[in-house]
Amino acid sequence: MIKGEQLYSGKAKTVFLTDDPERLILHFRNDTSAFDGVKLAQLERKGEMNNRINAFVMAKLADAGIDTHFIERIGPEDSVVRRLDMIRVECVIRNVVAGSLAKRLGIEEGLVLERPVFEFFLKDDALHDPMINESHILAFGWAGAEEIEQMRKASHAVNGVLKGLFDGAGIMLVDFKLEFGRAGGKLWLGDEFTPDGCRLWDASTRKKLDKDRFRRDLGEVVESYQEVARRLGVPLND
Ligand code: C5P
Repeated sequence: MIKGEQLYSGKAKTVFLTDDPERLILHFRNDTSAFDGVKLAQLERKGEMNNRINAFVMAKLADAGIDTHFIERIGPEDSVVRRLDMIRVECVIRNVVAGSLAKRLGIEEGLVLERPVFEFFLKDDALHDPMINESHILAFGWAGAEEIEQMRKASHAVNGVLKGLFDGAGIMLVDFKLEFGRAGGKLWLGDEFTPDGCRLWDASTRKKLDKDRFRRDLGEVVESYQEVARRLGVPLND
């Protein structure tokens, strides 16, 4: 696989073309951002840790029958993925009240929900990723009715697989964000699954092990990501 021109650079990953038009390389950087890119830092070894965690989680999801864009990890910070036409919405699943849900509804963080909450947000930093619903998605043509249903179903399926995985590692899967895209007439899970895009709490102490450590200046950010990797059994050496 030959790494070609840069296609796109996001807040924490850079996407490269390859010699295969249907494949891209995701490069996980050490850059860390919060609050729609307002707070920025470089955290040593975060790119490598996220690339390893993402590869491990995506493989577990594929084993469970979920269509993901992930193909293989090819270097410390690089992975090959299927090229997708990304849908402009973010899908969030919540098992425990935290973050923007706590703020929006005035409910204290930590309430375990009786059933998962599913939410859509528009992917738009300048607008601070506003919450949207199915009728906005249909009215503005961001996705079709069948795609909306597939994203909802796949998000719940991911939750089922990952709740079990994290439970087994003594970690609560509080919430997470997913993105989907189209290729070959199908919908695929795209983007990444790393502690940058989910909330993970130690099951007994509720210590935060995710990007909230960066957002809230709690320190030991990459150390916590490494702790997540160690507990999941993610290989940390090649
Ligand atoms: O901020 P909020 O509580 O809505 O975030 C819900 C979940 O989605 C969190 O795990 C957060 O890390 C993730 N998220 C994300 N990217 C965004 C917005 C939220 O990864 N742009």
